[in-house]
Amino acid sequence: VNGIDLFLMKKEEAKIRIEKLTEELNHHNYLYYQKSEPTISDFDFDNLLKELEGLEKQYPEFKLSHSPTTRVGGDITKDFETIVHTYPMLSLGNTYSKEELTDFDGRIKKGLGTDDYEYICELKFDGVAISLKYENGILDKAITRGDGTKGDDITANVKTIRTIPLKINTKNYPASFEVRGEVFMPKKQFSKLNEQVSIENEQREAEGKAPLTLYANARNTTSGTLKMQDSAIVSSRKLDCYLYSYLDDLNTFGTHEESLHFLEQSGFNVSQTYQKCQTIDEVFDYINLWDQKRHELSVETDGIVIKVNSISQQSELGFTAKNPRWAISFKFKAESAITTLNDITYQVGRTGAITPVAELEPVLLAGTTVKRASLHNANEIERLDVRIGDSVNVEKGGEIIPKITGVNTNSRSNDAKKVIYISECPECKTALIRKEGEAQHYCPNKETCPPQVLGRIEHFISRNAMNIESLGPRTIKGFLTKGLIKNLADLYHLSFEDINNLQFEEVDDTSGEVTKRSIKEKSAHNIIESIENSKKIPFERVLFGLGIRYVGKTVAEKLAQHFVTIDRLKSASFEEIVAVHEIGDRIAESVVAYFNDPENMKMIEGLKSAGLSFEVEKKEGTGDAFKGLTFVVSGVFETFGRDELKNVIKQQGGKISSSISSKTNYLVAGENMGPAKKEKADSLGITILDESSFRELLQND
Ligand code: IVH
Repeated sequence: VNGIDLFLMKKEEAKIRIEKLTEELNHHNYLYYQKSEPTISDFDFDNLLKELEGLEKQYPEFKLSHSPTTRVGGDITKDFETIVHTYPMLSLGNTYSKEELTDFDGRIKKGLGTDDYEYICELKFDGVAISLKYENGILDKAITRGDGTKGDDITANVKTIRTIPLKINTKNYPASFEVRGEVFMPKKQFSKLNEQVSIENEQREAEGKAPLTLYANARNTTSGTLKMQDSAIVSSRKLDCYLYSYLDDLNTFGTHEESLHFLEQSGFNVSQTYQKCQTIDEVFDYINLWDQKRHELSVETDGIVIKVNSISQQSELGFTAKNPRWAISFKFKAESAITTLNDITYQVGRTGAITPVAELEPVLLAGTTVKRASLHNANEIERLDVRIGDSVNVEKGGEIIPKITGVNTNSRSNDAKKVIYISECPECKTALIRKEGEAQHYCPNKETCPPQVLGRIEHFISRNAMNIESLGPRTIKGFLTKGLIKNLADLYHLSFEDINNLQFEEVDDTSGEVTKRSIKEKSAHNIIESIENSKKIPFERVLFGLGIRYVGKTVAEKLAQHFVTIDRLKSASFEEIVAVHEIGDRIAESVVAYFNDPENMKMIEGLKSAGLSFEVEKKEGTGDAFKGLTFVVSGVFETFGRDELKNVIKQQGGKISSSISSKTNYLVAGENMGPAKKEKADSLGITILDESSFRELLQND
């Protein structure tokens, strides 16, 4: 066998292997996502996928369009191509009442001239309509509805949806057909996405950045996701899709029901909520059943769809200009309820912000009992002119917290009480303040207002700060109510005896229920140990943990690097702080204010004496490269703060002198250095380094 044959053989083998892996992995994908019955481990699956990825990279010419590697995304679409639909994508007529639905049934009966027909009822999924074109059983194109006649080609994005088969399972199928359905983001996935935004916003707040807005609802998010250019992000969003229509030129199926069976067998995700109904009364039963039960589903629904089952009867009925005559939708009522406003209470956040909360007569709304709704701030109460005892409208959109959307002033009783907004903090009785131009009231008592203190300690012990894992919010609350701690420093004065077998009561915020709790010996040990361990946490994280407004993780790192010790940071002026690379006015102001507060200084002294680290540790890579050398630093630098540069010299064992003499080895010269210094250095024959030569010197050693 000569070299070329060997090469061809390897190539042929690779082709076969790629084909085999593609089929196998697609099958496992189906078993995992559709059947929930995996037959191999995730680990084995990943290994096979990696093998396929490797082969496809080596032999891109053999990569199949239905390769499971397309699921992870990576393809970037700059402009979505417009494609004309083979069959127009129509919408459905809407009905809102049972009378209208009875009229629809009458029209069907009249149109067909018989009462021998049946319906298939389905849920109306609230997502984004999609049309999938299959050629020889392989997904060829995925197109949005667009204007109904033409839509956008979003194939790369749709291929990342795990439950959409890239190649169908069944053997006998028409060469070309189309499948239509609804892409959606499962409710859980949607809340997860918003949770991530909330976490990111905490970080942004700490860094003085404007918060990102939460995603409004699952449908808009789905629509936005499908139009993203980077399919890898689409893949990470974990969209799903229910299919509900089949179309071809051959009239392959006699009924809609048969076509749904075909879709199921072919590996499509068909919601198992559809039902065959013989009469309009059975349709009403279906509506009543799902109006309640739909809240248990993973997908948002906003109504039901009623379709004539027989395809030939569908053709007989035909279409109007916009809608099919053989189908209609029935919309569920908007998810709102009427209830009584019993009271308004006020919550204090960790920053001291006050939020008014509506305490409602419990009412069933969108499948859950609602007792409270947010009223945002004093302006909102004024805008609604809502009074205690009023009958109010509560609505729940895609959002988690219900809203009061209106007041029924007609039914207002004479006893309804006007709301007098609180002027004192409900937790600590301090007079509230409201800054110019801000809607929110604040409690200024940072030191002793319980929710603020609790919030600060929670932040201090969190993972990115002191990482005291064995302590949770409930235990901290217990310590606070027992008077064991008042601030961060007190944590380090706790002894095993203080907390072992500590009994305290926990009050549930909403129900007011009281639970007795006690700290067992083992957890007492763990708590003391993890507090002790936290003393080793490096300075930058301690600084972050202090919770100085706008000092997030990265800002804390920058400040620590620049000032090296807390003492230098605390005596730094506003000007010195804004001079640090990427530190703005807001942060500098906040840092200065923090260290001007004697309470904070006392607390820091407490943490210091407990042994926490308030100085940047000598980093690895520091050394004695500049040992025995004396430097003079002058002027301003682009990539270093001046102090930062001095610290680097010191970290390398060099000495800093303020004036040039015969003992000076180097003059590090920035912008704006005075000419006298240069002259003196020249006359003494001292090497002058600009910023980049200084860096070189540093890196060479
Ligand atoms: S059948 C000829 N079935 O509602 C119309 N549509 O206005 C074929 N939808 O564009 C549509 N769930 O986006 C049908 N089970 C279902 C549906 C459904 C949601 C959406 C779809 C369609 C719109 C109708």
